[in-house]
Amino acid sequence: MSDRTPGSARRDFQFFDRQPAIPDATEELVAGLSAPAKSVPPKYFYDETGSRLFEAITKLPEYYLTRTETGILEDSRADLARWVGPDACLVEYGSGSSVKTRILLEACRPAAYVPVDISRGHLLASARRIHEDFKDLAVYPTCADYSQPFELPSTTTGLRKVAFFPGSTIGNFEVGEVPDFLRGVGRVVGPEGRLIIGVDTKKPEWMLNAAYNDAEGVTRAFNLNMLRHINAIAGADFDLGKFEHHAQYNRDRGRIEMYLSSTVAQKVRVNGALVEFRRGERIHTEHSYKYDAEEFRALAEEAGFRRLEARSDENGHFMVLLFENAAGRAGC
Ligand code: AVJ
Repeated sequence: MSDRTPGSARRDFQFFDRQPAIPDATEELVAGLSAPAKSVPPKYFYDETGSRLFEAITKLPEYYLTRTETGILEDSRADLARWVGPDACLVEYGSGSSVKTRILLEACRPAAYVPVDISRGHLLASARRIHEDFKDLAVYPTCADYSQPFELPSTTTGLRKVAFFPGSTIGNFEVGEVPDFLRGVGRVVGPEGRLIIGVDTKKPEWMLNAAYNDAEGVTRAFNLNMLRHINAIAGADFDLGKFEHHAQYNRDRGRIEMYLSSTVAQKVRVNGALVEFRRGERIHTEHSYKYDAEEFRALAEEAGFRRLEARSDENGHFMVLLFENAAGRAGC
């Protein structure tokens, strides 16, 4: 007895391409780089090289986030099946984290897995590996910018949806944007759909600063690689030797602020436009917000999510939270 639709048969593999067009990307990049305070959205970190560099970051001794979250999931193994429930469709926001995904897939055995990522090649390669290793799983990689509304594959119709948003990538959204984004997740999972989310916590500044200024310089390379990516997709001519990596925790705002600063006065061509830099002028590339448990609970409640479970490591360095979408339900 299963309400699975014929389209979502087991051991299926279909690719769904909802990647934004390059002209749209160029327009967004020129706008961000022409503003008085220059900025580029963090999604432009993730070309092939950027996705690889991020994988390398997750293995750095200073970058406590990934191994701590993985440990929490491992310690919660016995409960994960109950969190996800039977015959579910697991929708993963950002598909970089293969180790964490595998823990969840092994513990929960969902009917379908939909990894959603902006980096097409990286997405397809990791989705294929999952398809090979999980014989009974339908895998529907979806290339999309999940910070914008996107459509789930038609093959998932009828399956109960559970969103998985690990890694504290939610920290890339401004605090004021979080409830709106989560309401969007709520629409994707539907009423009574669930959300498993990893959130990084506030902690001593030295520890946060070290995580984003590693001794090997991988984070520096990751930040600078954004310029190479922009060169490739937007016909720009950034000289990576003329920019410097900066990352620092802002305690008042509760966030890591990451920039690239121009080491000289220079002009850079971006798709026909000329972008001028003063010496020391910065491009803002990323905010990475850190939350207390109650702060994040309040944001999620604003979006109609009710917290069912909260797990942390013994040092409180990271949280894995389970929410249920209560939006649109009577009495809420
Ligand atoms: C993938 C957004 C969670 O903010 O820690 C790592 C990205 N930036 N080092 C983070 C990142 C610099 C990462 N997230």
